[in-house]
Amino acid sequence: MSAESAIWAESLSKAYRSGGTQVVVFHELSLQVRPGERLAIIGESGAGKSTLLHLLGGLERPSSGQIFYGGQEIAALGDQALADFRNRTIGFVWQNPSLLPEFTALENVMMPLLIRGVEPGAARKTARLRLEEVGLESRQEHRAGELSGGEQQRAALARALAGGPRVLLADEPTGSLDFRTGEMIVGLLNEVHLAHGLTSIFATHNLSFASRCDRVLELRKGSLHTASMMDFQSPVVVEHKVPVVGGNNEVRTGGSEPVVRGNNEVRTGRLEPVVRVDEAVERTGRLEPVVRGKNEVRTGRFVPVVRGDVERTGRLEPVVRGIKKDATRLDGGTYV
Ligand SMILES: Nc1ncnc2c1ncn2[C@@H]1O[C@H](COP(=O)(O)OP(=O)(O)OP(=O)(O)O)[C@@H](O)[C@H]1O
Ligand SMILES: [Mg+2]
Repeated sequence: MSAESAIWAESLSKAYRSGGTQVVVFHELSLQVRPGERLAIIGESGAGKSTLLHLLGGLERPSSGQIFYGGQEIAALGDQALADFRNRTIGFVWQNPSLLPEFTALENVMMPLLIRGVEPGAARKTARLRLEEVGLESRQEHRAGELSGGEQQRAALARALAGGPRVLLADEPTGSLDFRTGEMIVGLLNEVHLAHGLTSIFATHNLSFASRCDRVLELRKGSLHTASMMDFQSPVVVEHKVPVVGGNNEVRTGGSEPVVRGNNEVRTGRLEPVVRVDEAVERTGRLEPVVRGKNEVRTGRFVPVVRGDVERTGRLEPVVRGIKKDATRLDGGTYV
């Protein structure tokens, strides 16, 4: 085992038996996470990100393989010892905050401390500090069920930190939040990661978030692959720098949220922009898949793919051709 690793998984396999069939999520996967590292795990839906976090967090047991935290092999622990280990070592944040709605934010944050037997006065004091840290001091007596989604996620982060964990595991922590609230949570996660000297693993579809981590691994076909930061140049969010092109159809392209408005519906997503036009669009880029076709719109793994009647090339300076040839940018610039 590497003494350098905060978390070290070796030959990790996980298979589920579902009905009569066996689903192998991953087979003999290995992973080493350095102390203080902020690791993002990305991958298509169903790739096994949550499963991997559950195993690493000791919430599920692997079919085979070992997981070490420092010198401690967690698969060897019995259920109660594993629960104690989780309580003391790991903070979890989920896509849905899973707070107890009838309890106040403060009581929710106190919970992990009470479970480990901390005296209520001390638990309350620590919980208050954690709630202040996430900017929720004025909401601490509110019932969790009365908080907004973003506030609930902040309270969930405070709860994850309450027990002074060494490791933070978050599964799509921005997954159910709007863009701005998600950005706020990303900011907080990064702040607390540093402030608490954590080792953090974030499973996310949010490529902008992933690109701000120290390392990005993609879970694909049961294996982990290093994802080049180059892959993220297109999706990185650059607010206020989104060129806008007006024309017959308005075309707006940007780092992470290309928008093409046609005669049909336009929808953009935070991670997987979707563009619909009723004519052929082609978009090519250095790292980007090229899709030709009509009408239907699909999004790619790292970059949006657009079908319709526009061609867009270039990674940083999108070029729009075809029916958008004469378009001028609304900010006064022109496209070549
Ligand atoms: N308890 C279970 N029983 C059977 N199969 C399961 C179970 N949990 C997960 N799976 C299967 O394991 C695979 C990986 O699921 P997992 O939830 O880890 O994916 P994911 O990458 O987190 O996806 P998403 O991005 O949608 O959250 C899927 O095929 C899923 O159906
Ligand atoms: Mg998942």
